[in-house]
Amino acid sequence: MHLAVHDKDGEKGALIDEHIAFAKRAEAAKLDFLFKADYLMAHPELMAKTKGTVGLDPSFLLATVARETKQIGLVTTISTSFTPPYLIARQLQSLNWISGGRVGWNIVTSIDGAYNFSNEPMPSSEERYAKAAECTKIVKQLWHSHPYEMLETDGDIEKIKELMKPINHEGEFFHIKGPLNIPMHPAGEMPLFQAGASDVGRQFAAAVSNAIFAATPAMEVGIEMRNDLRKRAVNVGRTADDIRLLPGLYFFIGDTYEEALDMYHHAHAHLTLERRYDALESVIGLNVRHMALHDPVTVDMLPPENQKVRSRTHAKLVRRYIMENEPSVEGLLARPEVIGSAHLVAIGTSHDIVDQIVTFYEKGALDGFIAVPGGPAKSLDLFFSDVIPMLVERGLFRAEYEGSTLRSHLGLNMQLSNK
Ligand SMILES: Cc1cc2nc3c(=O)[nH]c(=O)nc-3n(C[C@H](O)[C@H](O)[C@H](O)COP(=O)(O)O)c2cc1C
Repeated sequence: MHLAVHDKDGEKGALIDEHIAFAKRAEAAKLDFLFKADYLMAHPELMAKTKGTVGLDPSFLLATVARETKQIGLVTTISTSFTPPYLIARQLQSLNWISGGRVGWNIVTSIDGAYNFSNEPMPSSEERYAKAAECTKIVKQLWHSHPYEMLETDGDIEKIKELMKPINHEGEFFHIKGPLNIPMHPAGEMPLFQAGASDVGRQFAAAVSNAIFAATPAMEVGIEMRNDLRKRAVNVGRTADDIRLLPGLYFFIGDTYEEALDMYHHAHAHLTLERRYDALESVIGLNVRHMALHDPVTVDMLPPENQKVRSRTHAKLVRRYIMENEPSVEGLLARPEVIGSAHLVAIGTSHDIVDQIVTFYEKGALDGFIAVPGGPAKSLDLFFSDVIPMLVERGLFRAEYEGSTLRSHLGLNMQLSNK
């Protein structure tokens, strides 16, 4: 099973030090990688929730973390909608050298933020993924355009010319000559992650990525998505195991279930009814303000599916929940699909959490998870002191690292850089 943790935002003032201390804890637990999402905008809601350090460029932050850790993988997020591929290839390859081959790239197409780059509106999901596919292809070609063996040419210009080749890419979105100005790290091609689960998002993930960071709030959602991704991978000539489903696991752990539930309520106490109404409206365009809290939300109230939404993944999850449950307004406004990032919510004692993880794993709803710490320090302490060791005890997770590259932690073969 693959285990990783989402970076926790710094809280007190020693911001960078906190990120480093957190990474060291994750490394001591032998987790596969530390993961950092990224949004290229400053949204008041997001800033309120994250205490201000969310805006740090994840690649810079992970470069600092890299020099203070030795083995844990480091997965940074870079948006293909806003960042040119030459810069992406260069930043990632730089980080891979800085960290000794521990980097992974979380490819996102982003739901918002176009206004920070031009006066054009956000392109459609299809266009964003078409650009992502072309961008990713270029990034990989650029990595290979400057192979590791370049470091062994001893200034022999003929050898250099033979090894370092322009890519001369001419496509719909990009015209790029290359080659890249840094050689590939001997660890080989960096593992790719993707987040976004619309039809076109899944197709893209199945074709290029090693893992998908998923929002699967229920077991059946995870099983369906994992099976679908595995099928899609086979259809494009890969094997089913080439793509791993790693849902976010938003956890609240206490000594008792009641204590954990209190932690969960406390973490969401700032969400007033008005903010919950806003959240529902922004995800699927449904206004329920005129309804009583106990009224059921029924299928016929759903707005048309083809309307423009920020994230099809999140819209689909909320629509699905309404279709299957016809919940009360109050019930719907408490759902993680509406008020959170739609991650799998785990509330309970360490034993409860381990049982939930093992059940999901055995039923084929995940290949591992990216833990998203939700509660206070105690919840996180229990995650490291109890949950991980119990998974090790059950033989589901490593007790020691076998290597010191992210490829090794993910069980990917060593790869020659000039392949
Ligand atoms: C679990 C998850 C995590 C995401 N993380 C990010 C992120 O860190 N930064 C970002 O700009 N977009 C993020 N996104 C947005 C996706 O990149 C994508 O733009 C969005 O989901 C729309 O694609 P879709 O139509 O496939 O849902 C995330 C989406 C999901 C589902």
